[in-house]
Amino acid sequence: MPLPTRLLMCPPAHFDVIDVKNPHMQGNVGQVDRAAAAKQWSDLKSAFERAGATVDLIDPVPNCEDMVFCANQTLVGLDAAGRKLCLLSRMKHPSRQREVPAFAKWFAAAGYRVADLASTAGFEGSGDALWHPGRALIWGGHGHRTDPTAYEAVSAAFDIPVIRLKLLSDRFYHLDTCLCALDERTALINPLSFESRGLALIRAIFPQVIECPPREADQGMACNATAIGGKHVVIQKGNAQTVAALRAYNFTVHEVETTEYLKSGGSVFCMKMYVF
Ligand code: ARG
Repeated sequence: MPLPTRLLMCPPAHFDVIDVKNPHMQGNVGQVDRAAAAKQWSDLKSAFERAGATVDLIDPVPNCEDMVFCANQTLVGLDAAGRKLCLLSRMKHPSRQREVPAFAKWFAAAGYRVADLASTAGFEGSGDALWHPGRALIWGGHGHRTDPTAYEAVSAAFDIPVIRLKLLSDRFYHLDTCLCALDERTALINPLSFESRGLALIRAIFPQVIECPPREADQGMACNATAIGGKHVVIQKGNAQTVAALRAYNFTVHEVETTEYLKSGGSVFCMKMYVF
């Protein structure tokens, strides 16, 4: 199934770093520049649009300081019968659990069947469960936010195979921080995040694998990029080697500044949700 070019974003009205949910947030409590965050968010929205996406918005909810990261509250897609399905996450942090009902409501209004995960295991939606573009396949990261057993319920709900990948480092705590499926054949990865059997699976299924240098994968969150239409890639600014590699594979690269969001452990990919 090709990935949609319609995206959902959440304006950063209440965005802040008020606690430490991942190692990137350490030292950044109270350090968000709100004006800069607002500008970076609108520039990101414009970059998605320039890359060919249309962007829908969800109303931000007060006291949900991470809601701007709208990849995490759900996993949406088409089920085996081609119907729109929105699977709700079981977020690890109580403050993030409060974000989920707003997304349930939004996707129900957009014509989705909304379902709870048939499991009590932790599951953080498209932060950890990534569609393989053009294939009936999901990649499922686990080890920090998502429990590996959650993927049995994900696989059953969409009637689709899930390849599980154990995430080694807590700085790469969601799969979308270390694997980006750019198109059916090409993945951008941080090789240090995976066990050798995970890496072998990635290489067996993607004929082209671009490896990010460690500094760009970590400080620049280069793998938290988003491909639009299999041609355009939106990525955090300053990841020079990764950008050169993307251009060598003929992707059109759009660089954006997401430094205020890096303080919270997120960048381009996690600031949107696909809308099928
Ligand atoms: N501060 C947020 C958290 O720790 C960041 C989430 C980033 N999302 C992502 N899919 N990587 O939950």
